Amino acid sequence: MTTLQIRGLTKAYGAFKAVDDLSLTLQDGEFLSLLGPSGCGKTTTLRMIAGFITPTAGAILLDGQEISSPSGVVPPEKRQMSMIFQSYAIWPNMTVAQNVGFGLRMKKLPKAEIARQVAEVLRVVQMDHLAGRYPSELSGGQQQRVALARAVALQPKVMLLDEPLSNLDANLREDMRSEIKRMHLEYGITTVYVTHDQSEAMAISDRIAVINAGRIEQIEAPHALYSRPRTRFAAEFIGRTNLIEGRRQAGKMIFDGFEAPSSGGADGPVLASVRPQNLRLLPRQGGAAPSETDMLFLPGKVTERIFLGERWDYGLTLEGGQTLRAAGPPEEDYPEGAVVWIALPTASIIPVEDEPVHLAAE
Ligand SMILES: Nc1ncnc2c1ncn2[C@@H]1O[C@H](COP(=O)(O)OP(=O)(O)OP(=O)(O)O)[C@@H](O)[C@H]1O
Ligand SMILES: [Mg+2]
Repeated sequence: MTTLQIRGLTKAYGAFKAVDDLSLTLQDGEFLSLLGPSGCGKTTTLRMIAGFITPTAGAILLDGQEISSPSGVVPPEKRQMSMIFQSYAIWPNMTVAQNVGFGLRMKKLPKAEIARQVAEVLRVVQMDHLAGRYPSELSGGQQQRVALARAVALQPKVMLLDEPLSNLDANLREDMRSEIKRMHLEYGITTVYVTHDQSEAMAISDRIAVINAGRIEQIEAPHALYSRPRTRFAAEFIGRTNLIEGRRQAGKMIFDGFEAPSSGGADGPVLASVRPQNLRLLPRQGGAAPSETDMLFLPGKVTERIFLGERWDYGLTLEGGQTLRAAGPPEEDYPEGAVVWIALPTASIIPVEDEPVHLAAE
């Protein structure tokens, strides 16, 4: 059983805090992603977990033992962790099998045992047929598999991966993320995965920590994060969304041209997120709006549309002037200028904080 606890972790460079009071706990076998834009402190956090950087404040504990604090850091090689760096590197002068067995040779395991373990890991990453090749004879994706295999071969308590797929093209990235997911299922190693690609984080993680300027804004399972973002930043960073401004008054959220029930919250300005997928278009030829509980039908017009293959991307303008984006299935084709009802479930209007939220502890 492995638990990794991070408590109030901070790294300051002068007055600038690259990582600012970050707390989270990983359960045994959990796959957690740190997701955020460039410069938000992901690599710095990962390097502190690995033991390469001493924190300015806070602590890291592995299975209850403190391994990092401002007063001392257990060195990387004594942490039973494997890290794959942003620019992954495998040794060019060693074959695939020698690369994967390197850490095991350092541990002075018997030769036959090393051969057995290397063969096993290479089978899992589907590289057994290339064991004798050198890195210069491999594709980028194959080299990446070797880097993964080498990290897994050590059977670390914790795997740390820093944007391991950023050097690969889009198709290969999708293959490799399935590969990483499969390896994780096979070995169940507790993993911290750094990425700025939200779809990658969604596809691969048990939970995602959304990081903004060194702080966690939200930490949640992918589906919960997508359907209930807490902040403007989280809503915009995880997928596309409509952010609409209105005000809250007497138990309602009032927007330009429509209103919806509000569950709690103080009266005053309100910002809400509505995912394009939650809007549906219906034809409108005069007559009253359909009526359905928990569903709004708003009169609007298609002002723009783009065909994206798997869906239509519509730009809509409500009669009150509010503009919205909607996603529609390819078989429902509304031309530009079409007058429509826009069906909007009130439950999909999610109020969010306009300002960053600092999630200091879970
Ligand atoms: N040694 C250092 N001295 C001063 N500032 C640093 C140092 N290392 C990192 N920083 C700053 O800390 C911030 C966080 O850097 P970090 O490398 O953790 O970002 P990141 O989230 O990994 O970004 P990317 O997605 O671009 O890799 C950045 O603004 C960076 O310039
Ligand atoms: Mg980085």
